Amino acid sequence: MDFVAIIGGTGFDRIDDFHERERLRVDTPWGDPSGDILRGSLGGRDFLFLPRHGESHDIPPHRVNYRANIDALRSIGARRIIALAAVGGIHALMRPGDLVIPDQVIDYTWGRQHTFFDGDGSAVEHIDFTHPYTPALREHLLGAAIRAGKTVHDGGTYAVTQGPRLETAAEIDRLERDGADIVGMTGMPEAALAREAGIDYAAVAIVVNPAAGRGEAPITLDDIRAVLARGSLDALEVLRHC
Ligand code: HPA
Repeated sequence: MDFVAIIGGTGFDRIDDFHERERLRVDTPWGDPSGDILRGSLGGRDFLFLPRHGESHDIPPHRVNYRANIDALRSIGARRIIALAAVGGIHALMRPGDLVIPDQVIDYTWGRQHTFFDGDGSAVEHIDFTHPYTPALREHLLGAAIRAGKTVHDGGTYAVTQGPRLETAAEIDRLERDGADIVGMTGMPEAALAREAGIDYAAVAIVVNPAAGRGEAPITLDDIRAVLARGSLDALEVLRHC
């Protein structure tokens, strides 16, 4: 059976309105995924759901087993993945509370297991990654946002940093010079692995803070949580209209 999977990021370790029908524990050759994969429905549609940081939010971005997560979803029939992510806003137009459907990625992460083609005897493949997010799935999300009556930014370049610390102001200046609009810690290698696995992939990013050096005050987790509480409801409305 073909499924749409939601990978939930910070603020989406659980989805209140998600009606869970089944919990699937999936083994993969790459190790354990972040937790059980839940099968259920949201807004009357069937979805798979996997919280990226674990159900109790104890897996930091650099320790997420991205390969196991993507392979587990693939093995139980996920053909499309919608990733949810909390991000910082770099571009002045990317304000706290805004939703973004990014169209590009710049990968600044290091040391993560980032490919299924790892020289283990299988043929080496070089995937085309010109457009890291599947255009048709992006369009679908944009349509869902319109149906949900939510304003979203159509496009934006997502800089993926290593974390778990936030960036310095100079690092954010550099990312902006590179052309990045938003910054987060989990967009890669997830998007590339989905492409390697032949799964359509797009993301809904919620801007939860001005990036380092872009706001008036230091970035606090309390402020992030407050914005996320509202922004996550908007993102869920988009999913309900998918
Ligand atoms: N930087 C990196 N990741 C983030 C941020 C940020 O400012 N906000 C939420 N995730």
